[in-house]
Amino acid sequence: MRIDVITIFPEYLAPLGLSLLGKARDRGQVDLRVHDLRDFTHDRHHTVDDAPYGGGPGMVMRPGPWGEAIDSLLAERPELVPGLVVPTPAGRRFHQSVAVELAARPWLVFACGRYEGIDQRVVDHYRKRLDVYEVSLGDFVTSGGEVAALAVIEAVARLVPGVVGNAESLTEESHTAGELGGLLEYPVYTRPTTWRGLDVPAVLLSGHHGEIRAWRRAEARRRTASNRPDLLDQPRTGA
Ligand code: ADE
Repeated sequence: MRIDVITIFPEYLAPLGLSLLGKARDRGQVDLRVHDLRDFTHDRHHTVDDAPYGGGPGMVMRPGPWGEAIDSLLAERPELVPGLVVPTPAGRRFHQSVAVELAARPWLVFACGRYEGIDQRVVDHYRKRLDVYEVSLGDFVTSGGEVAALAVIEAVARLVPGVVGNAESLTEESHTAGELGGLLEYPVYTRPTTWRGLDVPAVLLSGHHGEIRAWRRAEARRRTASNRPDLLDQPRTGA
């Protein structure tokens, strides 16, 4: 899978070289490239923002550099149509099911906005040419789309076949259909059996697979009822 990220802070994406994703890049499973939006400006100060029409606080990202940056990527692979992911607090809530949808695409381009956002005509224009995903991480605001891009890329890349060594670990996690049917994941334990006076639940040491499965299911339900009762009312399942 190919992933391009356009940002005014390329260093922000450095963590994509670490851990599972870093290994996936080294193995050639994910071809990840980060681009500086300022390379697509033509003035001496590499200006990417301007005052909002209609007034109001803050600055808006100019459409010109975005159009040039995205067009330059599209020209590299004219036979492919990427999904354009635009992280924004005004987007649709990101969910595991969207990660599954994005992971099935051969190419994603992330447009990381800053300031008050990107001129709306950028999304309006590319909607006519590409599938555009305006996604929000949740009901809070970060200073730019980079943190959200990191989160979305990690969620997507681990679903690319071969990136996670043990594919089974993908089927029993929170927000995913499968064993847990959309419940939050049950609590997990490892050695030692007693830590600071707290014991590992005895059933997990019993070797009774049926009882362990039933206990995990009950714990997943209890946790979901406590932390995310909305998921019980209206189960949304992932893959
Ligand atoms: N950019 C700023 N806030 C964001 C959020 N909550 N989700 C995605 N992108 C954002």
